[in-house]
Order: sequence, then structure tokens, then C-alpha cells
Amino acid sequence: MPIKYVPFVPEPVEGQAVLSNFNRVLKYKGVDELSMTLQRGMPLYEVERQEIIGDNLDGNMLIRGECISACAYLKNRGIQVDLVYIDPPFASGADYAKKVYIRRNPKVAEAIKQAEKELDIEELKAFEEKMYGDVWDKEKYLNWIYENLMAIKSIMSETSSIYVHLDFHIGHYVKIIMDEIFGEDNYQNDIYWYYYNKLHGATKQVFPRATDMILYYVKNRNSGFTFHHLTEERDKPVKKLKYSFVDGKIQNDKDENGKAITYMSTERQIDNVWRLSMLQPADKEEPVGYATQKPESLLERVIGASSDEKMIVADFFGGSGVTAAVASRLNRKFIHCDIGINSIQTTRDRLRKTEAEFDIIEIKDGVQLFRNPVQTMDKIKELIPGLKNEDSLDSFWEGAISDSKLGMIPVYVPNLMDSSSKLLDKVMINRIIHQAIPELNSTIKKVIVYYVDITDINEINKFIKEDDSTTVEIELRDLKVVLDDVVIEDYIETHTEELHEDLFGGYAVYIDKFISDRVMNKISDFNNKSRMNATEKKPFKPIVISEDGLELIEFLSLDCTSDSGEWHSDGEVKIDKLGYMIVNGNKTNEFWDCRVCCREKPLRLKVRNICGDETIIKL
Ligand SMILES: C[S@@+](CC[C@H](N)C(=O)[O-])C[C@H]1O[C@@H](n2cnc3c(N)ncnc32)[C@H](O)[C@@H]1O
Repeated sequence: MPIKYVPFVPEPVEGQAVLSNFNRVLKYKGVDELSMTLQRGMPLYEVERQEIIGDNLDGNMLIRGECISACAYLKNRGIQVDLVYIDPPFASGADYAKKVYIRRNPKVAEAIKQAEKELDIEELKAFEEKMYGDVWDKEKYLNWIYENLMAIKSIMSETSSIYVHLDFHIGHYVKIIMDEIFGEDNYQNDIYWYYYNKLHGATKQVFPRATDMILYYVKNRNSGFTFHHLTEERDKPVKKLKYSFVDGKIQNDKDENGKAITYMSTERQIDNVWRLSMLQPADKEEPVGYATQKPESLLERVIGASSDEKMIVADFFGGSGVTAAVASRLNRKFIHCDIGINSIQTTRDRLRKTEAEFDIIEIKDGVQLFRNPVQTMDKIKELIPGLKNEDSLDSFWEGAISDSKLGMIPVYVPNLMDSSSKLLDKVMINRIIHQAIPELNSTIKKVIVYYVDITDINEINKFIKEDDSTTVEIELRDLKVVLDDVVIEDYIETHTEELHEDLFGGYAVYIDKFISDRVMNKISDFNNKSRMNATEKKPFKPIVISEDGLELIEFLSLDCTSDSGEWHSDGEVKIDKLGYMIVNGNKTNEFWDCRVCCREKPLRLKVRNICGDETIIKL
């Protein structure tokens, strides 16, 4: 349950965010729900600091949680940001997958004396896992983005700027929304990222699409917002007239004969079409293994143009951490937020390779049990006893449970991807009673409604009782109770040895056995699918995991400072997808050797499996 609700913007800004106006323009559905959410404010949850890296005097943050809750947290702490870049999930109807790689098992590898340095990467590529889905209908998406942009606006400083990265699917609609929220006057540019070297395959499109769109606004154009003109090299030098400013007016420079002075210009001012040699996703050139990853060169422009050193740069849909990485490199402070654990881990590891210092913070909104919301949603369906898909029901219902006495009981489950649907309030129950239930078959006697947050259960039950327009029984159930039962930690067996290998001594913790039911279930699903899709040409080749399970480990860290509370990584090893070690952020040419070392006596061990679940054991 949120501790409280934090208002979106301090007070309505004249001439902006006029919902009725917006409603008229877009005629999107669910506008009541949106205005109710805006009235209520952003949910403020408790947070937990999970890890501290370095002294972090700049207050850099990686926040795991939803954009809106992260904004509530920042606003409550009085933190304002100077620059926002966001690349929210598009309404493209696509699902994004993370490639999961089985690692090289040091024990097995030793046994068979693998001589080769490079393993066949395709052989190692095991399975893909959905990270987040962005299948939205347009109205829902627009409601969602409206709320998110309102939340972001409420923590932007008066002199700040915002860049919103979109494409043809929804970009033009979001432009209208941005006009509503930030004001038409504060619009600066739509920037087109032109991937000019994209290879166009056979296409039915009239002109092949080769651009993304970035909408650039400032919070207040009269505030003296930060902007630096940027330049790039010209393809060919051009002759230009030399000029100076005299009494504020531009004047061509002349030589002693009164002839205009010219020079060969090799640079040009960057305009709103950005030709970057990188393609997207940028994971080929800048491999951090994140679908939809944007190139650093793009963020260099955004950050270089609209911020100065030590300003706070925030990305609330941070993904691979590109914004945080570039901000840190350019000596800016950074805030990275993302709903998925994989994003937080990828960004953490990416920043760890640099000297960056930051805290990792988790928003305790009760639904962060799994690695990402898509997985949580999939899991929920399995966890609600008796819940089955039911084709005859509208998509509002997740499915139905069959009851011998009552017949079919439709079940509503909130969409964890959409924060507004997580809260069961009067608006939602009203919608269920007056819209969703009347559309059901008249034989339905009962429905079940799951919630994550509820305004007040007694008040909602009273509301249901007092509304006599339906005879269908409505049972309310807390979804967190379902989620609480299901996390089975990975099993880790270790032994610790004192080191005498160098002058400093220290300790090595060896992993003897690692069992992960969560990963094994994924692999078994993958094997079943491959078996069904096998052909003579491509026979079934199952993924087999050794008994000690060491190939399922991606990362290990030792805490020698404290045996509880936030994590201090006093020694860590990341195993890359080829099996090489990155020790304390430094890449090596050595394969992983089953252990992780530290100087002081280790108190706790954290192990991250290849899918991203983390398990901590005391040593
Ligand atoms: C298109 S990706 C961003 C990619 C990023 N710009 C990069 O270069 O790596 C969108 C990200 O938004 C995250 N996301 C989706 N819904 C979110 C929400 N409500 N709050 C915060 N993050 C969310 C997803 O997990 C995903 O990482």
C-alpha cells in the first residue's frame, strides 16, 4: 500500500494540461480514470536501499520501480532534475526479449580440457525471455504516457529540458499530449534520428522507414534553460563568409581592400536531423545485451546540448543504462529508473566498469517479486488455482474458474504494467459493476476481482453492497497473497579457503553446487518447444545442464562489510557470455574458475543466475 499520494504538479499551470481539452482532441477512452488518478496523485511507496557503490557524494541512483512511483519518491525528497531523456516502450505491438546465455561450466570445461579460447556463441545461446511487453491499444497507451509525463514534469526544475524518444507508431499523438502538458510554447524541436546506413530489405512500404523521432521540450522557455549548440564534421569543407557581431548586429568581416573575407569551414552546426552511424538496437557495437538499446552517441548529443557538468540527468525508462553511462562519463549526476531487474543489473554492471558511484534503490510496491512485469503476469496466471483462459470472455477478464455450484466465475487481474490498474478504487469497481459485469453472459453468478492496492477495503465493500444494479456477487482478493508464496530461492553450496597466493592474502569462496528451479523451468519449457519444432534438418538438441549447475551463474559478489541490510560489493566476478571473468569491473582474459575472492573475511555471498534472479546466503 502506498504511504501516501504525492500531487503530480504543485498546482495547475495556467493554460496547460487541460484534460477536457485533451479529451476533445483525442477522444480517448478512460479519461475519467485518468483524471481520477491525476487528482489522487502519484503513489509513494517505501523504498529500500539495496546496494551502495562508492561514497556516492553526488547522490546518483538506480531505482527499480515504475516511473510514476520513482517520481513520487523524488518529489517527496525534494529532488529536481535538470534534464530528462526517456525512451518509453512504444505502442508497437512487439514484445522484447532478453537473450539468456548458458555460461561455460568451469568444472566440465576442465574435465574435457577444452583447448579453444572462443566457444561457439550460438551454441551457448539458450533461450529468450520476455522482458516487457508493449502490446497496448492506443487509448490505453495515451492515458498511460500522459500520467507518466505528468509525473516526470512534477520533478523537473524550472530550467530543465525533456527529450522523449518515439517513432512513427505513436510519436505524433504524443506530440499533442506534450503540447498539453508542457505547453506549445515550450516545444523546441522534433529531432529525427536518421539511421542512414540501414540496409533496407525487400519492403512493401512506399519509402522505407529510417528514422526515430525525439520530441524536445523545455519546462519553461523563459527560464534561461540550458542549451549548447553542437557541431559535427562536414562531409566536404565549404567556403563561408567570416563575420563578427558589432553592436549586437551581425557583420561580414572585410579585408583592407573592402573584400569579404572567406574561410573553408569543416564543421557544421547540428540541426534536427541526426545522422548517426549507429543502428538500433545498438547492441552490436556497444554490447551490453539489452534489446532496444540506444547508442551512446545519441545520448552524447542530448546531454551535451541540454546540460552542464554536475547537473542531474534522469531516464525513467532506463533500459540498458545508456543515459546513466553517458551522463556519468560527461561528469553529470544521474538517475536511472526501470521496472525490470535486468535493466538495473545491466546498468549496474555497465557502470561498475567505470569509476561511477551510485546507490541502488528498490521501490517496495509489492509486485517486484519476479524479474520483470511480464514474467510476473505469466506467473500469476499459473498461480491462481483453477484459473483458465476463457475465449467467451472479454479481454478485461484474465480468465475464469469453474465452480461445480456457481458455474463459470470470471476473474479480473490488474495489469502490473499499468500502474493505474493496480489500485482498486471506487472508479474501478464502478467500471466493473456498470460496464464489465453487464457485458457478461446472464448466467454468471459471481466474479472475482484481484487487487494489488486498494483505497479502503471496507469502503469498497460498502460501495458494492449499496449499489443494487447487479446481483452478481463480487469477491475481492489480494494479489500479493498469491505472489508471496512463490519465490523459491536458488540453492547454493560453497566452501571458503584462505588465500596464500599473493602478499595480501584474502579469501576465496568456491561454488560447489548451484540449483535454480526458476532457470531449470525455463530451460525445460525451451526444450519442450524445441522438441515440438524439430525437423529432420534441424533435429532436437536439448539444453542439458550439469549436476553442479555452475553454468547457470552470471555474477557473484561478496559482502565483507555487513551481514545484513544494503549490499557492499567487496569482491565480485561477472562471467560474460563467453565464460570470461570481469573481476571488480575489470575485463580479464581468464575463464571463470568457480570462485570469487575478497580481501577481508566474507560475511555474505550474492549469486545472480543467468536469468537475473539473485539469491543471498550468509557464509
Ligand atoms: C525501449 S526500452 C528503453 C531502452 C533504453 N533507452 C536503452 O537505450 O537501453 C523501455 C524500458 O522501459 C522499461 N519500462 C516499461 N514500463 C516501465 C514503467 N512503467 N516504469 C519504468 N520503466 C518501465 C522497460 O523495462 C524497458 O527497459
